Order: sequence, then C-alpha cells, then structure tokens
Amino acid sequence: MFSNHHITSAICYVLLLLTATTMGALLEQQPLLLKYHNGELLKGRITVNLLWYGHFTPIQRSIILDFINSLSSPPGAPLPSVASWWKTTEKYKGGSSTLVVGKQILHDNYSLGKYLKGTHLVSLASSFNDLSAINVILTSEDVAVDGFCSRCGSHGSTGPVHGKARSAYVWVGNPEAQCPGQCAWPFHQPIYGPQAPPLVAPNGDVGVDGMVINLATLLAGTVTNPFNNGYFQGPATAPLEAVSACTGVFGSGSYPGYPGRVLVDKTTGASYNVNGINGRKYLLLAMWDPQTLACKTVV
Ligand SMILES: *[C@@H]1O[C@H](CO)[C@@H](O)[C@H](O)[C@H]1NC(C)=O
Repeated sequence: MFSNHHITSAICYVLLLLTATTMGALLEQQPLLLKYHNGELLKGRITVNLLWYGHFTPIQRSIILDFINSLSSPPGAPLPSVASWWKTTEKYKGGSSTLVVGKQILHDNYSLGKYLKGTHLVSLASSFNDLSAINVILTSEDVAVDGFCSRCGSHGSTGPVHGKARSAYVWVGNPEAQCPGQCAWPFHQPIYGPQAPPLVAPNGDVGVDGMVINLATLLAGTVTNPFNNGYFQGPATAPLEAVSACTGVFGSGSYPGYPGRVLVDKTTGASYNVNGINGRKYLLLAMWDPQTLACKTVV
C-alpha cells in the first residue's frame, strides 16, 4: 500500500523571482541557514530508478542519464565536475550518497493521459516496487502535470503509513513547450524580471538542459531532506532546500535576471559550469554549503 505523505519542495521560480530582490538584500545581511530538523538523510549507495513518461529521444535520455552517472562517478571528468558539485551533499550530517542508476521504464504509451495529477506521479513511482530507491518520473514536453510551471518539479515520499520503509520519489517535467521562461531559464528568456539574452544550452536542448538543472536541485533536496525533516529553511510545506535555497545563483556575482559568472565553451558558445562523463557539460545551480553557510558557486 502506498500513500502520498507529502509532496515537498517544489521549485518555485515565480515566487522566488518575485522575492529575489528582497532575498538578495537579506542574504547580504545575514548568513543563509538551513536548519536540520533531526530526521533521516539518504546516505550510502542509493539506486535511482527512472520512469520516462511520454516521448523522449534517445539523445534526450542520454543527456539525463549521463548527468546522473556523473554525480557519483570516480574522478575522470575535468574539474569543476558534476561529482565535485555533488560532494557538498556530504557535508550535510556527514557521509556520502552514491547514486547508481537502476531500472528504467520507457512509459511512452501515455496510458495515464497527457495530464497527470500528484496521485498519478505516486502510482508511477510505485511501479518500480522498490522502497529503498529514489524513483524518478520524467515527463515529456507534451505532458501537463498538476502545478507544473508554478514549479518545475517536486520530490516527496511514499510508503507504508505505520511501517518503517519509505521511499523517495522525484518528478521533473520537460518545460520546453509549457514554461521555458520559468523552468529552463537561463536558456530561455525569463517571463518576469530583467530581460537578458538567453545562454546557449550546453547539450543543445533547452528543455532537457533545463530539466537537468531542476533534477539536480531535486536530487540534492531528496538526499538532504528526503522525508521533510532533514535540512531546510522556512516552513515544511514550502521548504528552501540545499539547492532550491540558491535559486537563480549559477555563478558568482549573480543577481535577479543575471545567472552569474559561468564558463563558455569556445567552440559551441554554450554556457556551463560543470563537466560530466562522456565529455558532457552541464549548468547547475549553486549548492548551500553547511560549513560556510553560503551558496557555493563553482565559478
Ligand atoms: C504502457 O506502458 C507501460 C510501461 O511500459 C506498461 O506497463 C503498460 O502496461 C502500458 N499500457 C498499455 C495500455 O499498453
């Protein structure tokens, strides 16, 4: 039996962009503090199962798969790397989380339709029948999801109500057709705030490169706050977590509408800030560092 305990930590760009100016002022005055709420964190070797709902091309899948495989890869990718970015999660109560891709389901027959509710996400997550894993649902650009665009993805947990086992799940949608201004910024013009020319997406796919930003954010939120009693700031119903607390900050010197200093690939003109396996490059948000109490930018 699965029940929906809660859907936590939506990444809410609209709200954050509107409050970004106030936040920026606050950040200068006081350190950002994510409180630890005494709950369990996900540590050790963790399986990540992937359910692709809708149509994804093999290239789109490989961009995301390479990203997940880059998180815990042995040294290989040049620094700054995806793995070095992920390492900051080890500072949360100590201990590493090694994410290993497990099963994949290609759910390309739209059997639940093209409009999914939270309950659909929970039942898709449970199709892996794997309570110890992080079950990730990825929805294609033609699939609407309840709350999509006011948030770019979400994470939460399912599991027996009285039993001990609980399993974490993540949902991320491809925003390309629905809200690239919110969920694929800075690869697309923002819908609110100052307008700057969009950056070139590192893997040439505005929607999927945007998904990687949001997936990275949610995976970090999942391991550091899997059951809504880990590390976060603010109310448990709208928590700011490890990376969502740094929304809008891709590099140093960022301010609302400007993602900050990033690296540029001389050949393609693409913007990125971390290297992955197979020669891939990605652009990720900063992660809050529990030692310095600040969003740690790579560049
Ligand atoms: C649709 O695809 C899923 C995943 O492969 C499968 O489990 C399900 O039975 C399929 N549904 C239909 C109606 O074909």
